[in-house]
Amino acid sequence: MNTSDKKFWEERYDEQNTGWDLGQCSPPLRDWFDREENKQLNILIPGAGNAYEAEYLYKSGFTNVVVLDFAETPILNFRKRVIDFPQEQLILQDFFEHEKKYDRIVEQTFFCAIPPDYRERYVEKIKELLVPGGKLIGVLFDRDFPAGPPFGGSAVEYKQLFETHFSSVKIYPCLHSVTPRMGTEVFIEIEK
Ligand SMILES: C[S@@+](CC[C@H](N)C(=O)[O-])C[C@H]1O[C@@H](n2cnc3c(N)ncnc32)[C@H](O)[C@@H]1O
Repeated sequence: MNTSDKKFWEERYDEQNTGWDLGQCSPPLRDWFDREENKQLNILIPGAGNAYEAEYLYKSGFTNVVVLDFAETPILNFRKRVIDFPQEQLILQDFFEHEKKYDRIVEQTFFCAIPPDYRERYVEKIKELLVPGGKLIGVLFDRDFPAGPPFGGSAVEYKQLFETHFSSVKIYPCLHSVTPRMGTEVFIEIEK
């Protein structure tokens, strides 16, 4: 089945075949969120899954957080888990059809989930969704995988890809990865 297909992901959730799910806010992102003082930022989390990052942000006082995924199960899980989160900020939609502007977009195992031939479209869509000066921040794998998803890549490849559309592309080693991913991730901070 095509991994760009919503049904593929719905089935993974139904079968509880969700090896990517950390069960907690990704530590490198938690570290970044803790240093961000502007709680008014409009933040999008695409391909959010169970969205522990959104839960962490919301409980830390960030009120303008939008959770987006085209699979229904994780959105329903999130509704049950974070009951006071504004319902209108939970969006069941294909990322490539979403239209709004954000100050920050958070990347956590969404890029690696989409087929590699969609990467150019992903970068263009991120650019479209960001306000001028807005940033994509998050974590990407810096390794290959035998068969995806996840689809791997390298810091060099990501730099080339993002630099065709963004003027400021910072990619550095990830210091706070969870133990099984230690040394295999990079942190990205990409500004429009
Ligand atoms: C590997 S999971 C990661 C989920 C979450 N970010 C995490 O780290 O636990 C990829 C997620 O992206 C979602 N997804 C894949 N393609 C999508 C698309 N085109 N639009 C919206 N969501 C998509 C899937 O439904 C799935 O929840």
